[in-house]
Amino acid sequence: MPIRSIDAATPSVNTGIGFMNDHLVIAIDGPAASGKGTLGRRLARQLGLMHLDTGLSYRAVAHALLMAGAELDDEAAAEQAARTLSMDSFDKNTLSSHEIGNAASKVATYSGVRTILVEKQRAFANTPPGAVLDGRDIGTVVCPDACVKFFITASPEERARRRFQEERGKGKHVEYEAILADIRARDERDSNRADSPLKPAEDAHLLDTSKMDIETAFEAVLAIVNRARHA
Ligand code: DC
Repeated sequence: MPIRSIDAATPSVNTGIGFMNDHLVIAIDGPAASGKGTLGRRLARQLGLMHLDTGLSYRAVAHALLMAGAELDDEAAAEQAARTLSMDSFDKNTLSSHEIGNAASKVATYSGVRTILVEKQRAFANTPPGAVLDGRDIGTVVCPDACVKFFITASPEERARRRFQEERGKGKHVEYEAILADIRARDERDSNRADSPLKPAEDAHLLDTSKMDIETAFEAVLAIVNRARHA
């Protein structure tokens, strides 16, 4: 099935979506700062589902390595950190920094780490009543049978602007140009790695949020989910 672009005014409908025993799984993929996390959280709240920001699991592995004084290229240590992780509780405040995001993008290239984390993410998705998962490979690898799939994008400049404002809001002294360079480097690494690269699933609904506020984006994705649920 081809990727469908979402027009916020006239949302498209995925007529081929199945809902097994009311167990609903929604996959949201996209690059850093595209808005996928906010949309995922809001959708889950609205629909009474659990929410998993899978980026936090890769961030937690990177953070564990840094705390242990291990090198980021120590794959064995990264796999060990992944094995001990629980998907139920992440310290978001500690993990949300831009630097940890970059480190996470590096450990996310290790297939051993991915295998361990994907298994835990699938177990989370399979727990009733279902969940909204956001990340890079949810629609393609983690939950290829998800009921509805979205791929959320925005231009690198707009995503850098959002990240810049977010970091400044936390009182950090960051440069826009440096953030933009990091975002581009992260896109490059996430999209070109051998294992589970960032890309839209063939049956994903594509939404570009560059010129859209979060409210408009949320209405668009919610309309698609509701249409699909009642189809
Ligand atoms: O979504 P985020 O910025 O918190 O993700 C941090 C990094 O983790 C991202 O650059 C790549 C990696 N990641 C991944 O490889 N697969 C996922 N499903 C989620 C994140």
